[in-house]
Amino acid sequence: MNRTDILHYLSGAKDEELFAAAHAEKLRVFGKDVYLRGIIEFSNHCKNQCLYCGLRAPNKEAGRYRLSIENIITLASGLPELGFGTVVLQSGDDYHYSTDDIANIVSTIKSSTNLAITLSLGDRGLDEFRAWREAGADRYLLKLETTNTKLYEKCRPNESLKDRFQRIEALQQLGYEVGSGIITGLPDMTNETLADDILKLTELRLDMLAAGPFIPHPQTPFKDMDNGTTQDAFRVSALLRLLNPEANIPATSALDALEQDGRKKGLQRGCNVIMPSFTPEEVRANYKIYPGKNTFSAGAVENARLVQEMIRNMGFIPYAGQGPSKRKNRSKG
Ligand code: 5AD
Repeated sequence: MNRTDILHYLSGAKDEELFAAAHAEKLRVFGKDVYLRGIIEFSNHCKNQCLYCGLRAPNKEAGRYRLSIENIITLASGLPELGFGTVVLQSGDDYHYSTDDIANIVSTIKSSTNLAITLSLGDRGLDEFRAWREAGADRYLLKLETTNTKLYEKCRPNESLKDRFQRIEALQQLGYEVGSGIITGLPDMTNETLADDILKLTELRLDMLAAGPFIPHPQTPFKDMDNGTTQDAFRVSALLRLLNPEANIPATSALDALEQDGRKKGLQRGCNVIMPSFTPEEVRANYKIYPGKNTFSAGAVENARLVQEMIRNMGFIPYAGQGPSKRKNRSKG
Protein backbone atom coordinates (compact mmCIF):
# COMPACT_ATOMS: atom_id res chain seq x y z
CA MET A 1 0.00 0.00 0.00
CA ASN A 2 1.46 3.37 -0.97
CA ARG A 3 0.76 6.92 0.22
CA THR A 4 -1.89 7.48 -2.46
CA ASP A 5 -3.78 4.35 -1.38
CA ILE A 6 -3.57 5.45 2.24
CA LEU A 7 -4.93 8.89 1.39
CA HIS A 8 -7.78 7.29 -0.51
CA TYR A 9 -8.74 5.21 2.52
CA LEU A 10 -8.37 8.21 4.83
CA SER A 11 -10.86 10.10 2.66
CA GLY A 12 -13.49 7.60 3.79
CA ALA A 13 -14.22 6.40 0.26
CA LYS A 14 -13.81 2.72 1.16
CA ASP A 15 -14.53 2.41 4.89
CA GLU A 16 -16.37 -0.89 4.72
CA GLU A 17 -13.65 -2.54 2.70
CA LEU A 18 -10.94 -1.08 4.95
CA PHE A 19 -12.57 -2.15 8.22
CA ALA A 20 -13.38 -5.64 6.92
CA ALA A 21 -9.81 -6.15 5.69
CA ALA A 22 -8.36 -4.94 9.01
CA HIS A 23 -10.63 -7.26 10.98
CA ALA A 24 -9.76 -10.22 8.74
CA GLU A 25 -6.07 -9.50 9.30
CA LYS A 26 -6.61 -9.28 13.06
CA LEU A 27 -8.40 -12.66 13.01
CA ARG A 28 -5.69 -14.22 10.86
CA VAL A 29 -2.89 -13.23 13.26
CA PHE A 30 -4.62 -13.29 16.67
CA GLY A 31 -7.76 -15.37 16.12
CA LYS A 32 -10.53 -14.42 18.51
CA ASP A 33 -8.16 -13.46 21.31
CA VAL A 34 -8.28 -9.97 22.72
CA TYR A 35 -5.23 -9.08 24.81
CA LEU A 36 -5.89 -7.47 28.18
CA ARG A 37 -3.67 -4.86 29.79
CA GLY A 38 -4.45 -3.48 33.24
CA ILE A 39 -3.24 0.10 33.45
CA ILE A 40 -2.31 1.74 36.75
CA GLU A 41 -2.04 5.51 36.35
CA PHE A 42 0.08 6.04 39.44
CA SER A 43 0.82 9.77 39.24
CA ASN A 44 -0.71 12.67 37.34
CA HIS A 45 2.11 15.08 38.12
CA CYS A 46 3.83 16.25 34.95
CA LYS A 47 6.66 18.65 34.24
CA ASN A 48 5.60 19.14 30.61
CA GLN A 49 3.34 21.71 29.01
CA CYS A 50 1.72 19.86 26.12
CA LEU A 51 -1.00 22.09 24.74
CA TYR A 52 -3.51 19.24 24.36
CA CYS A 53 -3.18 17.51 27.72
CA GLY A 54 -5.08 18.15 30.95
CA LEU A 55 -2.13 16.96 33.05
CA ARG A 56 0.13 19.77 31.75
CA ALA A 57 2.15 21.44 34.53
CA PRO A 58 0.51 24.88 34.16
CA ASN A 59 -2.97 23.42 34.85
CA LYS A 60 -3.37 24.58 38.44
CA GLU A 61 -6.92 23.23 38.64
CA ALA A 62 -5.84 19.60 38.27
CA GLY A 63 -6.09 17.72 41.59
CA ARG A 64 -2.65 16.11 41.71
CA TYR A 65 -1.91 12.74 43.30
CA ARG A 66 0.88 10.21 43.61
CA LEU A 67 0.51 6.58 44.67
CA SER A 68 3.07 5.08 47.01
CA ILE A 69 5.47 2.40 45.81
CA GLU A 70 3.78 -0.15 48.09
CA ASN A 71 0.35 0.76 46.74
CA ILE A 72 1.49 0.40 43.12
CA ILE A 73 2.95 -3.04 43.84
CA THR A 74 -0.20 -4.17 45.65
CA LEU A 75 -2.46 -3.01 42.83
CA ALA A 76 -0.35 -4.74 40.19
CA SER A 77 -0.17 -7.95 42.21
CA GLY A 78 -3.96 -8.21 42.17
CA LEU A 79 -4.17 -8.33 38.37
CA PRO A 80 -3.31 -12.00 37.64
CA GLU A 81 -6.26 -13.34 39.64
CA LEU A 82 -8.51 -11.01 37.64
CA GLY A 83 -7.33 -12.67 34.41
CA PHE A 84 -4.81 -10.04 33.37
CA GLY A 85 -1.30 -10.97 32.14
CA THR A 86 0.11 -7.49 31.64
CA VAL A 87 0.33 -4.43 33.84
CA VAL A 88 0.95 -1.00 32.33
CA LEU A 89 2.47 1.48 34.77
CA GLN A 90 1.80 5.00 33.54
CA SER A 91 2.35 8.51 34.87
CA GLY A 92 2.96 12.02 33.69
CA ASP A 93 6.62 13.02 33.26
CA ASP A 94 7.11 12.86 37.02
CA TYR A 95 10.70 12.73 38.28
CA HIS A 96 9.57 12.38 41.88
CA TYR A 97 9.98 8.61 41.43
CA SER A 98 13.71 7.90 41.21
CA THR A 99 15.43 5.39 38.93
CA ASP A 100 15.68 3.04 41.89
CA ASP A 101 12.05 3.54 42.93
CA ILE A 102 10.83 2.37 39.53
CA ALA A 103 13.42 -0.45 39.36
CA ASN A 104 12.26 -1.60 42.78
CA ILE A 105 8.59 -1.59 41.72
CA VAL A 106 9.46 -3.54 38.56
CA SER A 107 11.65 -6.17 40.21
CA THR A 108 9.21 -6.73 43.07
CA ILE A 109 6.28 -7.29 40.69
CA LYS A 110 8.40 -9.54 38.45
CA SER A 111 9.59 -11.68 41.36
CA SER A 112 6.10 -12.28 42.74
CA THR A 113 3.90 -12.56 39.62
CA ASN A 114 3.93 -13.74 36.01
CA LEU A 115 2.97 -10.31 34.74
CA ALA A 116 4.55 -8.66 31.73
CA ILE A 117 5.36 -5.06 32.68
CA THR A 118 4.89 -2.13 30.37
CA LEU A 119 6.26 1.24 31.43
CA SER A 120 4.83 4.51 30.14
CA LEU A 121 6.68 7.21 32.04
CA GLY A 122 7.70 9.68 29.36
CA ASP A 123 11.13 10.99 28.45
CA ARG A 124 13.36 9.49 31.08
CA GLY A 125 17.11 8.98 30.61
CA LEU A 126 18.74 6.13 28.69
CA ASP A 127 20.51 4.98 31.84
CA GLU A 128 17.11 4.71 33.50
CA PHE A 129 15.64 2.77 30.56
CA ARG A 130 18.59 0.38 30.90
CA ALA A 131 18.20 -0.01 34.68
CA TRP A 132 14.48 -0.75 34.38
CA ARG A 133 15.06 -3.24 31.59
CA GLU A 134 17.62 -5.00 33.80
CA ALA A 135 15.09 -4.95 36.65
CA GLY A 136 12.72 -6.91 34.38
CA ALA A 137 10.57 -4.38 32.49
CA ASP A 138 9.35 -5.92 29.24
CA ARG A 139 7.81 -3.07 27.27
CA TYR A 140 7.82 0.70 26.96
CA LEU A 141 5.23 3.06 25.49
CA LEU A 142 6.40 6.41 24.14
CA LYS A 143 3.86 8.14 21.94
CA LEU A 144 4.95 10.39 19.11
CA GLU A 145 1.46 11.99 19.00
CA THR A 146 2.42 13.21 15.48
CA THR A 147 5.52 12.72 13.34
CA ASN A 148 5.20 16.19 11.83
CA THR A 149 8.04 18.27 13.29
CA LYS A 150 6.23 21.59 13.11
CA LEU A 151 3.04 20.25 14.67
CA TYR A 152 4.95 18.26 17.31
CA GLU A 153 6.93 21.27 18.40
CA LYS A 154 3.86 23.46 18.46
CA CYS A 155 1.89 20.98 20.61
CA ARG A 156 4.80 20.07 22.89
CA PRO A 157 6.69 23.27 23.82
CA ASN A 158 10.43 22.79 24.50
CA GLU A 159 10.34 19.17 23.29
CA SER A 160 12.06 17.85 20.21
CA LEU A 161 10.68 15.23 17.85
CA LYS A 162 14.19 14.10 16.94
CA ASP A 163 14.89 13.42 20.59
CA ARG A 164 11.72 11.36 20.82
CA PHE A 165 12.75 9.23 17.83
CA GLN A 166 16.16 8.66 19.41
CA ARG A 167 14.56 7.46 22.61
CA ILE A 168 12.37 5.02 20.70
CA GLU A 169 15.42 3.63 18.93
CA ALA A 170 17.34 3.35 22.21
CA LEU A 171 14.45 1.46 23.81
CA GLN A 172 14.42 -0.97 20.87
CA GLN A 173 18.17 -1.51 21.24
CA LEU A 174 17.71 -2.30 24.92
CA GLY A 175 15.37 -5.12 23.94
CA TYR A 176 12.09 -3.62 25.06
CA GLU A 177 8.95 -4.28 23.09
CA VAL A 178 8.27 -0.70 22.07
CA GLY A 179 4.98 1.02 21.39
CA SER A 180 4.10 4.40 20.01
CA GLY A 181 1.22 6.12 18.31
CA ILE A 182 -0.57 9.29 17.47
CA ILE A 183 -3.53 11.48 18.32
CA THR A 184 -5.78 12.00 15.30
CA GLY A 185 -7.43 15.36 14.70
CA LEU A 186 -4.93 17.58 16.49
CA PRO A 187 -5.31 21.21 15.37
CA ASP A 188 -3.95 21.72 11.83
CA MET A 189 -3.62 17.99 11.19
CA THR A 190 -4.64 16.95 7.67
CA ASN A 191 -5.03 13.58 5.97
CA GLU A 192 -1.56 14.19 4.48
CA THR A 193 -0.18 14.49 8.02
CA LEU A 194 -1.94 11.25 9.00
CA ALA A 195 -0.65 9.41 5.92
CA ASP A 196 2.91 10.45 6.75
CA ASP A 197 2.39 9.43 10.39
CA ILE A 198 1.14 5.99 9.34
CA LEU A 199 4.13 5.44 7.05
CA LYS A 200 6.64 6.69 9.61
CA LEU A 201 5.17 4.55 12.42
CA THR A 202 5.31 1.54 10.10
CA GLU A 203 8.94 2.22 9.23
CA LEU A 204 9.84 2.01 12.95
CA ARG A 205 8.73 -1.66 13.12
CA LEU A 206 7.03 -1.15 16.45
CA ASP A 207 5.51 -3.86 18.60
CA MET A 208 2.57 -1.71 19.67
CA LEU A 209 0.76 1.01 17.76
CA ALA A 210 -2.07 3.26 18.85
CA ALA A 211 -4.32 5.94 17.42
CA GLY A 212 -6.90 7.85 19.46
CA PRO A 213 -8.99 10.91 18.63
CA PHE A 214 -8.12 14.35 20.04
CA ILE A 215 -10.56 15.57 22.71
CA PRO A 216 -10.19 19.21 23.80
CA HIS A 217 -9.68 19.68 27.53
CA PRO A 218 -11.22 22.87 29.01
CA GLN A 219 -8.13 23.68 31.09
CA THR A 220 -5.67 23.68 28.19
CA PRO A 221 -4.74 26.14 25.42
CA PHE A 222 -6.51 23.84 22.94
CA LYS A 223 -9.84 24.12 24.77
CA ASP A 224 -11.66 25.81 21.87
CA MET A 225 -10.28 23.58 19.12
CA ASP A 226 -12.46 21.05 17.30
CA ASN A 227 -12.27 17.49 18.53
CA GLY A 228 -10.94 14.68 16.38
CA THR A 229 -13.38 12.11 15.04
CA THR A 230 -13.63 8.47 15.99
CA GLN A 231 -13.97 7.71 12.29
CA ASP A 232 -10.48 9.07 11.60
CA ALA A 233 -9.07 7.08 14.52
CA PHE A 234 -10.77 3.90 13.25
CA ARG A 235 -9.34 4.47 9.78
CA VAL A 236 -5.82 5.06 11.08
CA SER A 237 -5.98 2.00 13.38
CA ALA A 238 -7.24 -0.16 10.50
CA LEU A 239 -4.50 1.08 8.16
CA LEU A 240 -1.88 0.46 10.85
CA ARG A 241 -3.20 -3.11 11.17
CA LEU A 242 -2.92 -3.74 7.42
CA LEU A 243 0.61 -2.35 7.31
CA ASN A 244 1.70 -3.97 10.61
CA PRO A 245 -0.25 -7.25 10.80
CA GLU A 246 1.58 -8.57 13.87
CA ALA A 247 1.59 -5.41 15.99
CA ASN A 248 -0.50 -5.12 19.13
CA ILE A 249 -3.02 -2.34 18.52
CA PRO A 250 -5.31 -1.15 21.33
CA ALA A 251 -8.85 0.10 21.01
CA THR A 252 -8.08 3.35 22.87
CA SER A 253 -10.16 4.72 25.74
CA ALA A 254 -10.53 8.02 23.88
CA LEU A 255 -12.77 6.19 21.37
CA ASP A 256 -15.23 5.45 24.18
CA ALA A 257 -15.07 9.03 25.44
CA LEU A 258 -16.36 10.29 22.09
CA GLU A 259 -18.68 7.52 20.98
CA GLN A 260 -20.75 4.92 22.75
CA ASP A 261 -19.20 1.50 22.05
CA GLY A 262 -16.20 3.20 20.42
CA ARG A 263 -13.76 0.61 21.78
CA LYS A 264 -16.05 -2.24 20.72
CA LYS A 265 -16.05 -0.91 17.18
CA GLY A 266 -12.28 -0.63 17.33
CA LEU A 267 -12.07 -4.33 18.25
CA GLN A 268 -14.07 -5.13 15.10
CA ARG A 269 -11.87 -2.95 12.90
CA GLY A 270 -8.36 -4.27 13.42
CA CYS A 271 -7.62 -3.60 17.11
CA ASN A 272 -6.67 -6.58 19.32
CA VAL A 273 -5.90 -5.02 22.71
CA ILE A 274 -7.91 -3.37 25.43
CA MET A 275 -6.44 -1.49 28.35
CA PRO A 276 -8.89 -0.77 31.18
CA SER A 277 -7.80 1.37 34.12
CA PHE A 278 -7.13 -0.15 37.54
CA THR A 279 -6.23 3.16 39.10
CA PRO A 280 -7.94 3.38 42.52
CA GLU A 281 -11.38 4.97 42.50
CA GLU A 282 -10.36 7.76 44.90
CA VAL A 283 -7.92 9.26 42.41
CA ARG A 284 -8.96 7.81 39.04
CA ALA A 285 -11.04 10.79 37.92
CA ASN A 286 -8.04 13.06 38.47
CA TYR A 287 -6.10 11.29 35.73
CA LYS A 288 -7.99 13.55 33.42
CA ILE A 289 -5.94 13.79 30.25
CA TYR A 290 -9.14 14.69 28.39
CA PRO A 291 -12.83 14.96 29.36
CA GLY A 292 -14.55 11.59 29.55
CA LYS A 293 -11.37 9.80 30.67
CA ASN A 294 -11.82 7.46 33.65
CA THR A 295 -15.43 8.46 34.36
CA PHE A 296 -16.58 4.93 35.26
CA SER A 297 -17.13 3.97 38.90
CA ALA A 298 -16.57 0.21 39.19
CA GLY A 299 -13.99 -1.32 41.53
CA ALA A 300 -11.20 -3.55 40.19
CA VAL A 301 -13.06 -6.88 40.31
CA GLU A 302 -16.19 -5.49 38.72
CA ASN A 303 -14.18 -3.54 36.18
CA ALA A 304 -12.29 -6.64 35.03
CA ARG A 305 -15.51 -8.63 34.83
CA LEU A 306 -17.25 -5.96 32.74
CA VAL A 307 -14.45 -5.80 30.19
CA GLN A 308 -14.21 -9.59 29.92
CA GLU A 309 -17.98 -9.86 29.54
CA MET A 310 -17.97 -7.22 26.82
CA ILE A 311 -15.33 -9.20 24.92
CA ARG A 312 -17.22 -12.49 25.30
CA ASN A 313 -20.47 -10.87 24.21
CA MET A 314 -18.73 -9.86 21.00
CA GLY A 315 -17.82 -13.51 20.35
CA PHE A 316 -14.16 -12.94 21.24
CA ILE A 317 -11.95 -14.42 23.96
CA PRO A 318 -10.42 -12.37 26.79
CA TYR A 319 -6.84 -13.65 26.70
CA ALA A 320 -5.31 -14.08 30.15
CA GLY A 321 -1.66 -14.53 29.07
CA GLN A 322 0.97 -11.85 28.63
CA GLY A 323 0.11 -11.28 24.98
CA PRO A 324 3.62 -10.45 23.79
CA SER A 325 4.62 -9.02 20.45
CA LYS A 326 4.15 -11.41 17.55
CA ARG A 327 6.39 -9.33 15.33
CA LYS A 328 8.97 -11.53 13.60
CA ASN A 329 11.01 -8.71 12.09
CA ARG A 330 11.28 -6.78 15.33
CA SER A 331 13.55 -3.80 15.17
CA LYS A 332 16.78 -4.04 17.17
CA GLY A 333 16.94 -0.27 16.99
N1 5AD B 1 -7.21 13.98 23.59
C1 5AD B 1 -6.95 12.70 23.22
N2 5AD B 1 -5.88 12.01 23.59
C2 5AD B 1 -4.98 12.65 24.35
N3 5AD B 1 -3.81 12.26 24.87
C3 5AD B 1 -3.29 13.28 25.57
N4 5AD B 1 -4.11 14.34 25.53
C4 5AD B 1 -5.16 13.99 24.77
C5 5AD B 1 -6.34 14.67 24.35
N5 5AD B 1 -6.60 15.92 24.71
C6 5AD B 1 -3.28 10.90 24.67
C7 5AD B 1 -1.83 10.95 24.23
C8 5AD B 1 -1.10 10.41 25.42
C9 5AD B 1 -2.10 9.43 25.99
C10 5AD B 1 -1.86 9.00 27.39
O1 5AD B 1 -3.32 10.15 25.87
O2 5AD B 1 -1.63 10.12 23.11
O3 5AD B 1 0.12 9.80 25.06
